[in-house]
This record gives sequence, C-alpha cells and structure tokens, in this order.
Amino acid sequence: MKKIVVTGGCGYIGSHTIVDLVQNGYDVISIDNNSKSDPSILDGVEKILGKKIKNYVTDLCDLAATQAVFEQNKDIAGIIHFAAYKAVGESVHKPLVYFENNIGSLVNILKCAEQFNVPNFVFSSSCTVYGNPDVEAVTEETPQKPAESPYGATKQMGEVIVNSTVVSNNLKAILLRYFNPVGAHPSILIGEVPLGRPANLVPAITQTAIGKLPTMQIYGSDYDTRDGSCVRDYIHVCDIAHAHTLALNFLIDNKSNNKSEIFNLGTGNGYTVLEAIHAFEKVSGVKLNYSIGPRRVGDVVAIYANNNKAKSELGWNPENTLEQMMDSSWKWELKLQKNKAV
Ligand code: WQD
Repeated sequence: MKKIVVTGGCGYIGSHTIVDLVQNGYDVISIDNNSKSDPSILDGVEKILGKKIKNYVTDLCDLAATQAVFEQNKDIAGIIHFAAYKAVGESVHKPLVYFENNIGSLVNILKCAEQFNVPNFVFSSSCTVYGNPDVEAVTEETPQKPAESPYGATKQMGEVIVNSTVVSNNLKAILLRYFNPVGAHPSILIGEVPLGRPANLVPAITQTAIGKLPTMQIYGSDYDTRDGSCVRDYIHVCDIAHAHTLALNFLIDNKSNNKSEIFNLGTGNGYTVLEAIHAFEKVSGVKLNYSIGPRRVGDVVAIYANNNKAKSELGWNPENTLEQMMDSSWKWELKLQKNKAV
C-alpha cells in the first residue's frame, strides 16, 4: 500500500480525508500538533475505519522534529498538507502569528519532501485566493485580487511557494481551492469541532439552533445579491475529502505533464446566507433565532466555483445537496451535545 503523510490529520477536512484515503487503499500517517484540533477526532476516524491511525504530535515549524518523522517513515508516496491556522478574523488581529505558522510550516514540509524524495504534494488552498473577484463563477484562471485577510494572503503565498518549489526538483503538486466546506461524515462519528465561538456560518447556525449560542447575526443584508445577503458555494466535506484521493491518484498516475495543477472544489452553485438558513430550518424543523447585523469587514460579496476542470480531469462529482450538508451538520451538533451530556 502506498503510504501518505497527512498534515493536520486531526482537523476537520484532514480527518475526513484520512477516512477517504484509507477506504481507497492508501496507508496513512498524520502529523498534527493539536494546537487547533481535538486529538479525539482520530477516535472517530478509527471507529469508521476499524484500524488505528498513527498521529505524530509534532510542530511542523520545528524542522528537526518534522525531519524525524520522515526518518522513521521511509518511502512516502505523497504528502497532503492541511496544517494551517484558518480563522479569517483572527488573522487580521494576529498577522505575524499566521505568517510564521502557515508559511513556516509549509516551507518545512516542502524541505522534507525534497530531502526524503517524496514525489507528490497536495496543497490545501482556498477560494479566498480570488479576493473579491470581478466574476461570481470563478475558474482556476480567474485573476486573483488582493487577499481580504492575512489568512488569505498565506494561501496566495503558499501557492507561489509550492509552484516555485516544484520547478527545481522532482516534486509534482496539486493545489486544491476549497470553497466553503460544511457538513459531517454520514456516520456522524466525525465532524467540525470549532474552537471557541464559531466564525463560520454553518457551525454558528447549528450552535444557535441547539442553544449553545443565544442568537446569531447575518452580516449584512444590503448587498447587490438576490436577497441582499452574501453568496457562497457550500461544499460537503466528504466531497472535498474524496477530491484529495482523486488528486493523489492523478499525481501517482502522472496524468499531467505540468509540474503543478490547480482545481476548484465547489459545487458550482451559489447560495445566499438566507437561503442556507432556510435550508437548515427545513431539514432540522428548527426556527432559527437570528437578526440582521452590519456587514463583516473582509467579506466577499458573491463567489462560487466553476468546477468543470475538477469534474473533467479528476473525475470528481460532488454529490451532496445543500440540504444534505445542513442535515449532517445538524446531526453532528446533536451528537456533540449528547456526548457532552454523558
Ligand atoms: C460565509 C458567509 C458571512 C457567520 C472563510 C474562508 C475560507 C474558508 C471558510 C477555511 C459570509 C456569513 C458567517 C455568521 C454570517 N476557510 N456569516 N453570520 O468567510 O466565506 O470563508 O471560511 O477553510 O477560506 O475565507 O466563510 O462561513 O465565515 O461566512 O452572516 O455568524 O456567512 O458574512 O457571507 P467565508 P464563513
């Protein structure tokens, strides 16, 4: 079995990707220092898979410690690099923490890829690299606008660093630009575990619905969109996870003559915040307690994916509907509350 290193394997997308990789025949080890993730997430992964997953609690900003993991695990066929800080708002207040961590860890994992002759690299990027695009349905060629936050800047810089690195060595790379990952694994054994008050829409919805939050705000209803609230492309985390397996297969099978390829990972459908809330209310039967508040600084008005390249070249077909995403998010929130009650 080909062995893959997943950095950030205890995180939301990392954990779901480990499940998909193993179920598609890969052997996986994780590197995650649990600074922003809950190690118990791997318990859920192991329950789904029926096998142990080794996680090295190692800070990727510590090159020697990271090299030690690769010394103990030879013949790695690929690296999927998720580990990064990702809170847009926090990055505005702590830019140097974000640059040091997100760029420092990326440089170190790429150094290990070079040093230990790892041939394939998948980088966790984001639609945030488009900034506030001139078109709503962005393709991989849509010109990037200035990032709206230091977090977004680390993703733009990360793409440049990966693309520059593959030019000068045997590494091949794929950059996956996620739109808005939401939902939970159908087993409801793994899902998103936000640290503190959730910044993202869907955990804010489910925590308000279950009473963890007294209410929530819609950040602006006066945008030039069909109902005044922002438009996003919500994509199920399991569809995102499977795209990583397909991306690795694509690299290992040498499907491209290019040293790096970019793919948008979105459904191709844009939904407003109000439409997302109404979809949640429909599947949960819960009337959500929300109010309309001021716009949030840095918000993009409207963006969704043109996903034709991932569909045609990776053979990727996102299947989950918005209602299925909301249904699994709600079931996961109910599970978290039940676990806490025990
Ligand atoms: C979505 C919409 C908010 C909360 C960011 C990153 C992206 C990815 C996901 C990491 C916006 C509105 C939100 C709330 C609201 N990050 N909203 N009330 O900002 O599109 O994307 O997170 O993987 O890279 O850029 O996601 O969920 O924060 O916001 O009205 O309480 O929901 O204004 O329009 P965003 P989000």
